[in-house]
Amino acid sequence: MKRAILPLIALAFASCEKPDLSVASPDGNVVVEVELNTAGALMYSVDFNGEEIIKPSKLGFDFANAEDLLNGFEVQTVDVHKIEEEYTMQWGANEKVSAQSTEMVVNLLQESTGRTLGVAFRAANDGFAFRYLIPEQEEGDLVVANEHSEFNLASDGEAHWIPGDWEIYEHVYNHTKVSKIDALSKANHPNLASTHIVENSVATPFTVVYDNGTHLSFHEAALVNYSGMTMKKKGKTSFVSSLVGRPDGNKATIPTPFKTPWRMAVIGDEATDLLGSHFMYDLNEPNVMGDITEWFKPQKYVGIWWEMHMGKSTWDYGMTQDMGTWIADGREHGKHGATNENTRRYIDFAAEHGFSGVLVEGWNTGWEHWIGFDDREGVFDFVTEYPDYDLDELQKYAKSKGVSLVMHHETSAAPRTYDEQMDTAYELMQANDIHLVKSGYVGPLLPKGEYHHGQWMVNHYNNAVLKAYDYQVAVNTHEPIKGTGLERTWPNWVAREGARGQEFNAWSIEGGNPADHIATMAYTRFLSGPMDYTPGVFALETKSGPMGQNRVRSTIGQQFGLYVVVPSPIQMACDLPENYEAHPEWLQFIKDVAVDWETSIPVAGEVAQYAAWARTPKENDNWYLGAVNAEQERDLAIKLDFLEEGATYTAQIYRDAEDAHWDTNPYAVTIETKTFKKGDIFDISLASGGGFGAILVRD
Ligand code: NOJ
Ligand code: CA
Repeated sequence: MKRAILPLIALAFASCEKPDLSVASPDGNVVVEVELNTAGALMYSVDFNGEEIIKPSKLGFDFANAEDLLNGFEVQTVDVHKIEEEYTMQWGANEKVSAQSTEMVVNLLQESTGRTLGVAFRAANDGFAFRYLIPEQEEGDLVVANEHSEFNLASDGEAHWIPGDWEIYEHVYNHTKVSKIDALSKANHPNLASTHIVENSVATPFTVVYDNGTHLSFHEAALVNYSGMTMKKKGKTSFVSSLVGRPDGNKATIPTPFKTPWRMAVIGDEATDLLGSHFMYDLNEPNVMGDITEWFKPQKYVGIWWEMHMGKSTWDYGMTQDMGTWIADGREHGKHGATNENTRRYIDFAAEHGFSGVLVEGWNTGWEHWIGFDDREGVFDFVTEYPDYDLDELQKYAKSKGVSLVMHHETSAAPRTYDEQMDTAYELMQANDIHLVKSGYVGPLLPKGEYHHGQWMVNHYNNAVLKAYDYQVAVNTHEPIKGTGLERTWPNWVAREGARGQEFNAWSIEGGNPADHIATMAYTRFLSGPMDYTPGVFALETKSGPMGQNRVRSTIGQQFGLYVVVPSPIQMACDLPENYEAHPEWLQFIKDVAVDWETSIPVAGEVAQYAAWARTPKENDNWYLGAVNAEQERDLAIKLDFLEEGATYTAQIYRDAEDAHWDTNPYAVTIETKTFKKGDIFDISLASGGGFGAILVRD
C-alpha cells in the first residue's frame, strides 16, 4: 500500500475575515464549497459538472452533556491536500485499487465556548465525503444527542429507498420521487422478526437518479464506535442525519478525540458509475490484519439451509430444556435437518461438484426457543451439538474429501449470550480447522431499548469480527449492521446479509421478492459491500409460503447472472442437492463460475432496471459476464473491449431462451457456445425477470 498526502494550501485566518473555501476533485467535476452563514454555522454545498446538486447544508452537533457545536463558529485554519493511494484488496471486485482525491480540513473555533471542531471534506472524481474531527474535550466523553448533518438536494429526483429502520434492512425497495418518501407507511411489516421505524427517514445506501443523468448514492464509510446513520426527511427534498437511538434517548457516547464515520455520496453521470466506484473503500483505513488468505479462501458453498426455509426440515430437534439443561426426552420429531446422515449427503455432494464449504444450520442446541420468545438470553449454546450431530467426525469426514464445514452461530438477537461464549465458540472452530462462520441476529434486540443499528450493536458486530480474527475465523453476518467498507481494514469480514435475501422467496407474504429486487439492490445494497444473497435456486416455483404459492420471481438465466452480479467472496449454491442433480447442465455454470476476482468492470445498467458486469478472476485470463434484469425485457450489446488483444475466447453462454419469462416460462434456458475477440459485440437478450451468465475461456 502506498499513501501519499501532498500539501496544496494551508491558511490561517484572522477573526474578521470571511473565508470562501472550496475543494475540487482531481478532474474538477465535483466541487465542495464551504462557508459560514450569518449565524456562524458551517455550511457545505456540492456542485457536479458545474451544477449545484447539494444546496447549502448545515453541519454540527447537539450534545447531551456539553454545549452544542452548531453555531457561532469562525474559521481558524484550512489545510488542503491531495491524497493519492494505491492499495490491494485480498478479495473483492478489484485486487489493485488506485485512489485519488483532494481533502480540505477546516478547523473551527466556537467563540462563545472557546471550543474547536475540525471537519474534513473530500472531493473525488466519483463522490464527496465529510467527517467530523472532534478534539479532546474537558468533559472527556461526549454524549451525542444527535448529529446535525444536512443533505439538501437541489431538486427532486427518482429515489430508490428502504425505510431507516433501527432494527432491520430486510424491506422491499421503494421507487418514488424524493418528495414522496413515506417511510412510516412501511412500519410493522408482518414478515420482519423485528422492525422499528420511528420517523420518515431512509436507510443508506440511498440512491437518487435525476433526469439529466446525474446519479447519487448517499452512504457512510468506516462506521466504528458510533450509531448507524439514517437520513431523515426535513423538507421536500432535504434530509438531516438521524442516528439510531438507545434506551436513554441519546444516540452515542464518544471518547474524545474522535473521528466520526464519513458521510459520503457516490456521484456519476450514469448508473454504472455507481457500480464502479471504490470511494467507500478509499475512505476506510488500510488493512491491519495482514494476509488472511492463508486460512480464508474465497469460496462457493452449499448447505443445510434452503430445506428449512422450505419447511422440509427444521432447525430444532424437539428437545426440552430443564433448568438450563437440554434433555433428550423422546420429543424428537424426526424432521431435524442437521443430522450426521444429511450432513454427509451434503458433504458428498460438495466434494463431487467442487464446492469448498458445507454450511450446517441447526446443529447446536437452542432452536426450540429462538424466535417468538422474549427470554432468549442463555438459550443458544455455540459449542453443544444436538445428539444426532457429531461436529468433530463430520469435519474429519469433510476434510478427507477436500471440503470444510461452515460454522453457524444464530444468536437470536441475544448478543450478550454470544459475547460470553464467543471465545469458546471460535476456539472450537479453530480446533476443527473451520475458518468461516455465518452469524445471525434474528428477532427484537436484547436488551430492550438497544437496536441492531445503534452504537452498542455496532461495537458488538465489530468486536465479533476482531475476536474472530484472533482465531483465524472469517465472518458472514446476517441481520448485521450495514457494510461501510470496513472489510478493507478487517478483511475477515467477508460478507453479510443486510437486505431482503433469497429466503424471502420461500416464505414472504408477498409471495416472493419483486422481479426488480436484484436490479435495485445492485445500485443500493450492493454498493455497501459483499452480500450473502444465497443464489442458485433451480426449483423456482417453490409453492411454499403462507398461501402455498410462493416462487422465485426470476428465470433460471437470472440465477446464473447472480453469481457475476452479486458482490461476495463467498457464494452459496442454495438449492437442494436433488434439484441440482436434476439439472447437471445448469449446475455446470455454478461449478465453473469464479469467486476471486482480479478486475471487475460494470458494463451496462440502469438503476432498478438491469445491471451487467464483466469480471476476470485471479487464477486465469478468462472472463465472466453476467446480468440481471427487472420486469422489462431488453437486448444488450456489450462491447468486449476489455479482452486481450490478439487472443480468442470460447464462450459458454447460459441465457434466457427466446420465450423465457419469470412468470410464464422461467425454466427456458439456452446454453450455447460462441467465439469472441477483443472489440467484438456480445449481443444478449434478457427476459422479464431474466439474466445470463457466460464464461469466456481464453484459448
Ligand atoms: C436468518 C438468516 O438470514 C437465514 O439465512 C438463517 O437461515 C436464519 N436466520 C436462521 O439463522
Ligand atoms: Ca435474514
